[in-house]
Amino acid sequence: MNCCNNVSCTNGIGDFFSKEAKKFLKRYKKKGLERSQKHLIEGLLNAGIDKKSILEIGCGVGYLHSRLLLQGAKSATGIDISEEMLRYAKEFMKEIGLEKETSYHTGDFVEISESIKKAEITILDKVICCYPEVESLVEKSIQKTDKVYAFTLPRNVSWVKYPVLIAIQILKIIRFNFHPYFHEHEVVNSRLIASGFKNIYQNHTFLWETYVFTK
Ligand SMILES: C[S@@+](CC[C@H](N)C(=O)[O-])C[C@H]1O[C@@H](n2cnc3c(N)ncnc32)[C@H](O)[C@@H]1O
Repeated sequence: MNCCNNVSCTNGIGDFFSKEAKKFLKRYKKKGLERSQKHLIEGLLNAGIDKKSILEIGCGVGYLHSRLLLQGAKSATGIDISEEMLRYAKEFMKEIGLEKETSYHTGDFVEISESIKKAEITILDKVICCYPEVESLVEKSIQKTDKVYAFTLPRNVSWVKYPVLIAIQILKIIRFNFHPYFHEHEVVNSRLIASGFKNIYQNHTFLWETYVFTK
């Protein structure tokens, strides 16, 4: 499902989230983790994070992996298309004393994955639904994962799917430079199972479904 050429999509995602970066950090500092992110952490703790390396694709301002580092993970590499997200992530890590445990790369993960090291745990929290080429994103991220693959997607239920599909059409009509995508969960899950992963955790909120797979 590709609506546009990859460069304009990538620019659209980066521009949109760069404008949101300050708000993301402010919201986290005021309200903490969202419920779906608490599910992600619960699933990851079930899988085991102690002394493990993390790759967070679409890491935003980095608060999710900061929580995992504070709970025993060894290191985290964050990737994001948005330069502003990573600027705030670096400032935030300095502020909370996690500068040495973290490193960041700006770019579309699909385009830069060759230069990214493998990690024991890969996380994509509300990222797959920002990206048109779900197969490439999933395939390339699986290749970088040794043990645990965790992700959150919009739920596959009518009260989430149809409003998202309508919003996509409206955003396309008004030519907004970014819109989300609704990818079937089966596309991600079947690729993980074919690569030897098993689903060990699944949970949901009203809007989001969280999965953790291990091998
Ligand atoms: C909805 S935000 C979620 C960020 C974070 N999980 C949070 O909730 O704070 C999605 C993030 O993924 C990034 N992103 C989307 N597609 C990406 C890709 N292909 N490579 C790298 N970053 C990507 C966006 O720039 C954005 O910062």
